[in-house]
Amino acid sequence: MKPIYLCTIAALLGGLALAPRAHAADACKVEISGNDMMQYDKQSLAVPATCKEITVTLHHAGKLGKDVMGHDWVLVATPDLSAVANAGISAGIANNYIEPNDKRVLAHTKIIGGGETTSVTFPASLLKAGGNYSYLCTFPGHSALMKGTFKFG
Ligand code: CO
Repeated sequence: MKPIYLCTIAALLGGLALAPRAHAADACKVEISGNDMMQYDKQSLAVPATCKEITVTLHHAGKLGKDVMGHDWVLVATPDLSAVANAGISAGIANNYIEPNDKRVLAHTKIIGGGETTSVTFPASLLKAGGNYSYLCTFPGHSALMKGTFKFG
């Protein structure tokens, strides 16, 4: 019994030692959902400034297609939000409602429809700790409701 008991303790301690490291890595990966009522489920997202890479996963929890209720996740400096949304309307769905080579777009996913999931991974070096960032959906008209604050640091 004694050796088994010691093994169990060692496994528990090993698990505890690994847990904080796994948690730190997960903090650089965040998730958000959109629905058929033109809403994100989160008003803000936050990742620590210690992240080297950031991954944002977008789920579309609805049923409507991307042509009528498409959602994407687009990261910008907050003052650029309206201009990026407007430029996206003329870019059209073929460009995921993002003007090609728009330098104001820091990171973005593609447009998805109901039941789909997509993600984007980008280097944290694109961002300044404590900077003023926002995310939006660039599907025409959606950014009135579908926007939020992105906190880095
Ligand atoms: Co949308």
